[in-house]
Amino acid sequence: MQHHDLIAAQKQAFSLVTGLADTQVITNLITTNVIETLGQSPKKVQDIASACNLNENVLARTLRYASFIGVVNFDDDKYSLTEVGKCFLRDHPGSLKIPGSFIGSAPWRDAWNNFRYCLETGEPAFNHAFGMPYFDYLDSHKDFGGQFNDYMTEMTNRIIPAIIEVYDFKGFETICDVGGGQGTLLKAVLETAPKAKGILFDMESAVTGNVLGETASRTQIIPGSFFDDIPAADCLMLKSIIHDWDDENALKILVNCRKALKKDGRILLIEQVVEKPYNARELFYDLHMQVMLGGAERTEKEFCTLFESAGLELNLIIPTKSQAKIIEIIVLD
Ligand SMILES: C[S@@+](CC[C@H](N)C(=O)[O-])C[C@H]1O[C@@H](n2cnc3c(N)ncnc32)[C@H](O)[C@@H]1O
Repeated sequence: MQHHDLIAAQKQAFSLVTGLADTQVITNLITTNVIETLGQSPKKVQDIASACNLNENVLARTLRYASFIGVVNFDDDKYSLTEVGKCFLRDHPGSLKIPGSFIGSAPWRDAWNNFRYCLETGEPAFNHAFGMPYFDYLDSHKDFGGQFNDYMTEMTNRIIPAIIEVYDFKGFETICDVGGGQGTLLKAVLETAPKAKGILFDMESAVTGNVLGETASRTQIIPGSFFDDIPAADCLMLKSIIHDWDDENALKILVNCRKALKKDGRILLIEQVVEKPYNARELFYDLHMQVMLGGAERTEKEFCTLFESAGLELNLIIPTKSQAKIIEIIVLD
């Protein structure tokens, strides 16, 4: 290896292994409001420090680092956001503000700190770090649980147009959103299917803050666990559910879906499907699901194996303009 190739490889290796600084710098620039402050206009470091109530010396060094990794520019003694930095603004299209603040937050960070536990045991790191499963933690820590439900609602809201554009829900009598959270997807889907009735099914803590709006009048809210029983419907939607679970638990949910599905009904999973060429998002979420819940992002083949074990079969996979696909499943003949 040439000397300059070695230096380049070492530089890249150093930058990869110190990525935790990138995460913490970005998360904290978001949560201390520096990003939004810079979004208003370029500012001197002392003005940012006083607007955000931060230590000027450490802020100056943090912004120098942020400039090095391409989040801010430094010109004429003032900092401003780069195009990358603007992605962390609240009102930026496809804003990464909410995921950016969550990724560095204590429950997610401390779970990732125990990543080695996943590697050694195949179990979720979260349970090792916090002594309980993630969804029990959300239930018993209402503040964080509420923030997580808001985060899911926001992330789901972004891909709703891409989902309702490619799938016609009008023919269904009853659409049940299984693990539907606050009901943001169900609301949008029911708005496209004026004759359909809805069922929002999730844990008590998630459905209490529902956002069903006017569709509430034709929606039944049923708190419960999908490991026990799922309400009967001819359309069962599960968005970002199966990837939360390992194969054993995912199978239990799918078997309960099969039992709940009315004749000629459809089960719709709305998930990423891992395929080549890989992208950063699906590979990150694959590991993140393992860390938090013992879950995984799956390939089409892995999904099909699960479906077959549950007495189901893949009907079709519908791509959307978002990263999520609609995986339509029917009962195996
Ligand atoms: C990743 S969130 C997805 C929420 C929603 N489907 C969305 O995409 O916005 C997973 C959901 O599963 C729900 N959940 C977890 N365990 C559950 C259980 N045993 N029974 C029913 N819902 C459950 C959580 O409360 C949460 O709303």
